[in-house]
Amino acid sequence: MQVGIDQISFFSPNYYIDMVDLAMAREQDPNKYLIGIGQTQQAVIPPTQDAVTMAANAAESILTDTDREQLDLIIFATESGVDNSKSAAAYLQRLLGIQSYARTIEIKQACYAGTYGLMQARDYVELNPNKKVLVVASDIARYGLGTSGEVTQGGGAVAMLVTANPRIMTLERDNQFMTKEVMDFWRPVYATEARVDGKFSNDVYQSFFVELWDRYRHITGKDINDFKAFVFHLPYTKLGLKGLRKILPEADEAKQSSLLEQFEASRVDNKNIGNLYTGSLYLSLLSLLNHSHDLIAGDRIGLFSYGSGAEGEFYSGIIQENYQEALVTDQMENILSNRTKLSILEYETMFNSALMGADDRQLDGTKDPAKYILTGLREERRQYEQH
Ligand code: COA
Repeated sequence: MQVGIDQISFFSPNYYIDMVDLAMAREQDPNKYLIGIGQTQQAVIPPTQDAVTMAANAAESILTDTDREQLDLIIFATESGVDNSKSAAAYLQRLLGIQSYARTIEIKQACYAGTYGLMQARDYVELNPNKKVLVVASDIARYGLGTSGEVTQGGGAVAMLVTANPRIMTLERDNQFMTKEVMDFWRPVYATEARVDGKFSNDVYQSFFVELWDRYRHITGKDINDFKAFVFHLPYTKLGLKGLRKILPEADEAKQSSLLEQFEASRVDNKNIGNLYTGSLYLSLLSLLNHSHDLIAGDRIGLFSYGSGAEGEFYSGIIQENYQEALVTDQMENILSNRTKLSILEYETMFNSALMGADDRQLDGTKDPAKYILTGLREERRQYEQH
């Protein structure tokens, strides 16, 4: 029996900024952001969206009434959690109307946690083939206004339904993973913005990829020619390209150009959304599924997951017959075409108005068309509503 991703869905809110505008405002050459960083637009998260609502909005598009009855495990991966005690998955269970005899849990290890959640789901379904697991990866990437990390902000959520005999991609049992305690990126409990040693994090990311790929080849006997495409965690899309370039010399010229072409497909959507931490690798997978012209059943995809601090994992998945039919129709097109572009001043105001404090506050949800929104804080209780 094969287990894997049966459904995958994405959500990001209805505002964005253009990277050329940001470059001008920060007195940088736009090509640094467009080419050097590899980002075109960046999602801006209004106060009425948080990790919980974005996850609910992503999952809503793929859950049937039967799924809501059958799901008995919800795994919520995030590093933008809204509570130090209560799991974001518990909020999700109520908002999505998932039956109450379900386990709910939130997990954290920087941008890596979604992958751990997916593997837990795979193992769970292998033991319980009639069950389904909902895995969500939802985050807001916040570095701060005017910081060097600002160009790599963004946010959104990916929801995946893990089942037996999945329609999109099976998950192979070839995972190689590693951990090394380093301070490349972190967010202390008192901070609302990430701390990052940017150049160091780039180096650790690439060295993890090379080490895990070498280990993978050694243990599995597979090589670069066994892969149709590689998808990467993309805090900014240039970083995945740097990773891929490390191993391209192992392929002949034709294979190199084919892998580069697939990589371009896998970063189309990430360029317009920005970083979404835990969900970034899975947005890249979705981008590949939506934009590659020649994926066929049986193609092997390599996935590199990385979470600062640091933990990495490399594994593969196999594309399934007629996977296109299981994708949510025109989802990304609708998200992008319904977004409003903000000026840099409007973005800065929105960035500073995020719901962070402990005081009661009522938020105006009338400008947020998403189904699930955060309407405020009352007696230190977050108020969630659905339109
Ligand atoms: N045209 C084209 N490319 C240009 C350019 C121009 N006019 N000006 C600069 N560049 C290139 C640089 O050569 C560099 O490319 P390289 O990395 O291939 O050498 C790239 O743009 C970035 O320039 P750099 O000077 O390194 O930018 P920076 O000091 O502002 O820092 C980051 C960039 C990515 C390190 C910073 O944004 C950051 O820390 N982001 C967060 C990192 C992160 O997400 N870490 C977690 C990893 S999982």
